[in-house]
Amino acid sequence: MTGPGTRAGEPGLLVLKVGGSLLSDKRHTGETDYTAIDDYAGLLADLVAAFPGRVVLVTGGGALCHPVGLRIKAAKDDPYAAVALTEPAFRMRWAWTTRLRAKGVRAVPLQATSLLEERPDGTRACHTAVVGRLLAQGALPVLSSDCYLTAEGTLRILSSDDVPAVLLDLGLGPVRVVALTDVDGIHTGGPGSPVLAHLDPDDLAAARALFWTDAWDATGAMEGKVEALADSARRGAECVITRGDRTAADLRHLFAPLPDWPRNAPRTLISRRAPTDSALSPALSLENAP
Ligand SMILES: Nc1ncnc2c1ncn2[C@@H]1O[C@H](COP(=O)(O)OP(=O)(O)OP(=O)(O)O)[C@@H](O)[C@H]1O
Ligand SMILES: [Mg+2]
Repeated sequence: MTGPGTRAGEPGLLVLKVGGSLLSDKRHTGETDYTAIDDYAGLLADLVAAFPGRVVLVTGGGALCHPVGLRIKAAKDDPYAAVALTEPAFRMRWAWTTRLRAKGVRAVPLQATSLLEERPDGTRACHTAVVGRLLAQGALPVLSSDCYLTAEGTLRILSSDDVPAVLLDLGLGPVRVVALTDVDGIHTGGPGSPVLAHLDPDDLAAARALFWTDAWDATGAMEGKVEALADSARRGAECVITRGDRTAADLRHLFAPLPDWPRNAPRTLISRRAPTDSALSPALSLENAP
């Protein structure tokens, strides 16, 4: 299915996650880099002007949110501890919103807590009508990690990597989820090694052996991202992990069919449909090895 005005291979809706790893230094200083948010806001403003009503932004939490996430996980006796994530996550969304508005974007921060619930029977319900209304007005919904209501009536952390899955049924045509992060994709042999070009979301076993962890991380780093994106891919989304570049000329290729993306940009595609050879290049080929 293609949405109104979309070409074959082009998404109707782009859910763009800009990873906190690009916006802050979780490992050393713990600082958020507001000039990076400025730069990405400029790129987003251009993208929304080119594709109005077809972009949702999800911001990673980075250094603001991961420490809070770790404290929440340690507070095992408090079933509502996850509400503490609301404050740093909103600060992140507001940082984006002010900068996007300064660039003329109708940016509107939304709390995912109000969009998602796990029902008592364990199924999930997504209440996204307002997201669709905002998009219809050409606005840019700005989402982030949050907490959400579980089947038991407690609160649980919703990682920003899990937010795109809330937005898959807006009815705007094929959904592409792009996660911009600080690595080229799923590295196959440790940091800096060539990246996996394609991952079948129904067969994650081999990929699980490729992940490493960091003590500061609250949401599983690349492993959490892959599990989350694979969930969306099993529901039909085309999911791409690639490195963000705040100095890029623009991000318009994110709407292009994958074979038309810049050939020098490595990436990992997580999708049910096997990609064509040209869609795969250049990431699978280990020519990309740095
Ligand atoms: N096999 C792997 N390939 C690539 N990165 C990996 C792998 N295993 C672990 N990682 C780690 O995952 C990190 C990316 O996830 P991370 O959560 O830090 O970024 P993010 O999601 O962009 O940021 P945030 O969680 O703040 O939004 C990489 O910097 C890397 O250290
Ligand atoms: Mg992460």
